[in-house]
Amino acid sequence: MIHKHHDAKTFLSISGILAIVAIVTIASGCGLFQKMLTTMDMHPELVKRGDEFPGSHKCGDCHIDIYKEWTGSTHSESYISEEFRVATNNYEFEFCIRCHAPETIFALLENDNGDNTKVSVTQSKNDEIAARDYNLKDGVDCQSCHLTVDCKFSGPHTGISPHPLEKDEEFYKSSKLCGTCHVDTFEEYLTYVGNGNDETCQDCHMPAVRRKLIQDEPWQKLHKKKEGKKHTFSSLSAIEKNRDFIELKFTEMNTYNNQIAGNVEIINSKVNHSIPTGKYGYREVLLLINLMDNLGKIIKSKQESMFLELNTQIKPGEKKIYSFAFDPDDKSDEIVELEALLFRTNFDRTEKTHFAKVKIELVQSKID
Ligand code: HEC
Ligand code: HEC
Ligand code: HEC
Ligand code: HEC
Ligand code: HEC
Repeated sequence: MIHKHHDAKTFLSISGILAIVAIVTIASGCGLFQKMLTTMDMHPELVKRGDEFPGSHKCGDCHIDIYKEWTGSTHSESYISEEFRVATNNYEFEFCIRCHAPETIFALLENDNGDNTKVSVTQSKNDEIAARDYNLKDGVDCQSCHLTVDCKFSGPHTGISPHPLEKDEEFYKSSKLCGTCHVDTFEEYLTYVGNGNDETCQDCHMPAVRRKLIQDEPWQKLHKKKEGKKHTFSSLSAIEKNRDFIELKFTEMNTYNNQIAGNVEIINSKVNHSIPTGKYGYREVLLLINLMDNLGKIIKSKQESMFLELNTQIKPGEKKIYSFAFDPDDKSDEIVELEALLFRTNFDRTEKTHFAKVKIELVQSKID
């Protein structure tokens, strides 16, 4: 029967896992472990630290899809980003490096395993993440989130792999993981979560996907698909998943004496942190209200900025109302549309990430 079949399979994979667990238990230090892996013709180099560290592109040999997603995310650029270089006065402040090029998020790193095998990692101070001093260009790399202090890669599943694995489902599914670096956003999140919205950072910023964890041939044939998460780490993936995180609408519309007035309401209905969120870098969210003619050309516009520094951010659950009034000149007969846009932008306005958009048509006859 199907059930029996399943059980047999489960038994087989469990015995495989047990074999791996047994090896892991025998070998407590990385050095010894690496030796055993070598004799099994596996990949001992993957868990090496310091100068022998292989770099995240090595992970990309097998985890092809995840590596591609990560290279497209800002995590892979957190050290080389021009803004970061400038903000740290050319990497002068070590304090800044610990989240932008960290050792691993498993904070308390030990230098000595007690059996003379040294783990070549920088020790952390005050229970904080330590900065790496090698392979800085990878920024928040694979190892930052996956390497444990005893040289295993931990994650939400168990599996058979050419490197040691450790299952820690609870931690990998929890917002706490992200909160080790996104300290301020995590604090906002904690004050809101539990009020009916329990989604985690991963739920919104790492879209769910069912696929194999590796794509290299021929080994991928041995592995089954699993429930996993795309490593995109972007707000766009959150917005694509659910378009009504943020409600945007026109209310109290009025047209008199050639004036077009009303309110734009923004409700942060489902995002578990404020809009904008974060602490570092340039974090502006802009509301743009455009008055447009029948060809879609913008005739006039008004804008409102939201900054954390000015306490003008929209907190979780909060509603903000912006009043506007346009005094259209003689072109008023061509005015047909109003639109409101909400987007994140950078200092010189060359980049835009759209969060929400709404349009309404104006009734011509009322404008006279
Ligand atoms: C080791 C520290 C660290 C951890 C852990 C971490 N992040 Fe980040 N994250 C950063 C840094 C640093 C940046 C800024 C990168 C840049 O813009 O140069 C960033 C950027 C981001 C951004 C883009 C922000 C922007 O302004 O565009 C998102 C979204 C994000 N992280 C989500 C997450 C999620 C979700 C998790 C947990 C699964 C997570 N991060 C875990 C350090 C971390
Ligand atoms: C030679 C191929 C190969 C390389 C290189 C490789 N891995 Fe893996 N990895 C695997 C296989 C195989 C699995 C198990 C897949 C499965 O069970 O479906 C795995 C599983 C994992 C998991 C999954 C844990 C979980 O809970 O699902 C993590 C995390 C991981 N690897 C991290 C890394 C990191 C980080 C690197 C780079 C330092 C890396 N891997 C390099 C083959 C590789
Ligand atoms: C900012 C933290 C972070 C970084 C950087 C990161 N991961 Fe992950 N990774 C996670 C989280 C969180 C999960 C668990 C997602 C879930 O709930 O399934 C995960 C899951 C995985 C899994 C298991 C499959 C899955 O989707 O659950 C593999 C394999 C993996 N990561 C490999 C990598 C590789 C390879 C890199 C570098 C290219 C990398 N990760 C970079 C946080 C990270
Ligand atoms: C319910 C979905 C949801 C959850 C949960 C969530 N976010 Fe977000 N996040 C969003 C949306 C939507 C945006 C874009 C609007 C904004 O900037 O607030 C965003 C923006 C961000 C940004 C700024 C990036 C950008 O492009 O503006 C960062 C950083 C971030 N989130 C990190 C986190 C972290 C860390 C957690 C967990 C503590 C988390 N988020 C939880 C939906 C979510
Ligand atoms: C506790 C971890 C942490 C520390 C320490 C830290 N950062 Fe960041 N940094 C982040 C995270 C997370 C982000 C993503 C946006 C946010 O949440 O502010 C970020 C984003 C940035 C950005 C925006 C990157 C871009 O390309 O847009 C700059 C610039 C920046 N940090 C500079 C600094 C400087 C300068 C310092 C030292 C004074 C510093 N950071 C220290 C975690 C940290």
